[in-house]
Amino acid sequence: MRLTIFGATGGTGRQLVERALADGHEVTAVARKPENFPLVNEHLRVVRGDVLDSASVEAAVKGADAVLSALGPRSRKDPPVCGPGVANILAAMTSAGIRRFVGISAAPVPVHDPGDRLLYRLTAKKILRALLKDAYADMARMEDEARRSGLDWTIVRPPALNDKPASGRYRTALGRNLPGGYFISRADLAAEMLRSLKDPQTIGTTVGIAY
Ligand SMILES: NC(=O)c1ccc[n+]([C@@H]2O[C@H](COP(=O)([O-])OP(=O)(O)OC[C@H]3O[C@@H](n4cnc5c(N)ncnc54)[C@H](OP(=O)(O)O)[C@@H]3O)[C@@H](O)[C@H]2O)c1
Repeated sequence: MRLTIFGATGGTGRQLVERALADGHEVTAVARKPENFPLVNEHLRVVRGDVLDSASVEAAVKGADAVLSALGPRSRKDPPVCGPGVANILAAMTSAGIRRFVGISAAPVPVHDPGDRLLYRLTAKKILRALLKDAYADMARMEDEARRSGLDWTIVRPPALNDKPASGRYRTALGRNLPGGYFISRADLAAEMLRSLKDPQTIGTTVGIAY
């Protein structure tokens, strides 16, 4: 497939680009500073783009079969990027007639989730939601944009990310978090995002993922 990947310079984005190329896809990686992008591959095109600039987003999705986003704020001081950025991506996809979108939110975003254990809900989740209130509000807006888009969207909701290698052994659940699942590697997250592209069951839903 021809894939456009936003957030390609980030931890998960790099994993997405590398795995997509290994899987035989044609990849357009979107970067704010393409000159710093470290990978070179005959099936990889690196384009300059800022998700808050809709013209660059429109140019980046042109010709894609599907779009993936591993977008996120680089620091807690950054203004919201997931909500407005994904709104621009989905609008550009709609104009270009591209239907498939896979993005990343976070496990603590839903206030009530049937997969959350009581102890987690009353302790760690409460603390995370207080500390990262603005980031989760931005992601909740992104999820709403996807739901409203009318496109074939999937939003994966990981717990804490780490940089361990892909294990290929993780749990997923449609529309809910995983009880007792507190970690996932960026490599396994990227693998699941690419797998879900071809899984019609993941269309129009969130996906919980964890070990
Ligand atoms: N860290 C965790 O434990 C955790 C847990 C759950 C969910 N998440 C979420 O998972 C996602 C992936 O996380 P990560 O740690 O792999 O990401 P990351 O390394 O922080 O990378 C974020 C990416 O977004 C890009 N970006 C930011 N603003 C942009 C803009 N205006 N235009 C274009 N690109 C922009 C960055 O580009 P530059 O290189 O140009 O800055 C970078 O490529 C994020 O949404 C994160 O919030 C993280």
